[in-house]
Amino acid sequence: DDNVLAYAVGTTLDRFIKSKQADFPFATGELSQLLRDIALAAKIVSREISRAGLVNVAGAYGHTNVQGEEQQKLDVIANIRFTRALTKGGEVCAIVSEEEDEVIDLQNSRGKYVVAIDPLDGSSNIDVNVSIGTIFSIYRRVTPIGYPIQEEDVLQQGKQQVAAGYVLYGSSTMLVYTTGFGVYGFTYERSLGEFFLSHPDIKAPVDGHIYTINEGLQPYLEDDVLEYVAHCKQKGASARYIGSLVADFHRNMLKGGIYLYPGTKKAPLGKIRLMYEANALAFIAEQAGAKATNGKNRILDIVPTSLHQRTPLFIGSEKMIEELGSLMKQIK
Ligand code: AHG
Ligand code: MN
Ligand code: MN
Ligand code: MN
Repeated sequence: DDNVLAYAVGTTLDRFIKSKQADFPFATGELSQLLRDIALAAKIVSREISRAGLVNVAGAYGHTNVQGEEQQKLDVIANIRFTRALTKGGEVCAIVSEEEDEVIDLQNSRGKYVVAIDPLDGSSNIDVNVSIGTIFSIYRRVTPIGYPIQEEDVLQQGKQQVAAGYVLYGSSTMLVYTTGFGVYGFTYERSLGEFFLSHPDIKAPVDGHIYTINEGLQPYLEDDVLEYVAHCKQKGASARYIGSLVADFHRNMLKGGIYLYPGTKKAPLGKIRLMYEANALAFIAEQAGAKATNGKNRILDIVPTSLHQRTPLFIGSEKMIEELGSLMKQIK
């Protein structure tokens, strides 16, 4: 039937960004251009990923990153693609990346934006053809343009983000972003080379039936988290865990659910990184009506003290996060 095959080739990402910019007559268009730069790099990375089994881009790169993880070739490739796009674009003065020990100071005296990025999220899924992603946060620098960048330009609270988004390289490639006025999702049409608006104004279900946690961590989990997981099972929730934060988050935001990466007895701050994983998704979650905490506080209120700092992350449907929160208070 025609309806099954007809798809919404209507609003391109480009046109959408332009139409939104028109709402801000004094805006210079630099943020719009920056989003387009990211979309272009995403298309290139999407192409590299889709050929991963055919060309020599899978497997280990032979180097350990600042996280102590073995870098995969695609971690390195994606990092190069995104940092190059952000450098050439001219809107950015500094980049924080999972794959770089230090801030990349672009020495660009005109750039007023700072970008934090996880170029390739879900590295362990590259070689097995499972969904992976990219996560980004955009901040406005706080020191005046034309001067060297300072620590305060980079270590900003999540609530200072002016935009954030992710790319999901899944059964199709999607780009989802917010500038603080709702969350919009675009699906990539490969043969046309365009992202099309497919998910306007995404709202997360208030409650959900999915819980997402690496249950292999059980021996190291604290009682409150164990109890919450038991509670999810009791009420008949389903377990879903991909191991790519972007994919796990995206599913739960659309379907309703909770993602937990708690601190453990081995790693008290858990695994997820604040600057280029938690903050972006927390901004998007809140814009979609969901919530994100570290178990005590709102993720977006955390004051960062270092580039690669980790944080426990609980993110998802409002009711589930609230339930977890009150259970944590009772037990602690
Ligand atoms: P990255 O591949 O960018 O280093 O991120 C990996 C993160 C995140 O994507 C995922 O949710 C989590 O690590 C998985 O951790 P476990 O292997 O402990 O489940
Ligand atoms: Mn990594
Ligand atoms: Mn990641
Ligand atoms: Mn990564």
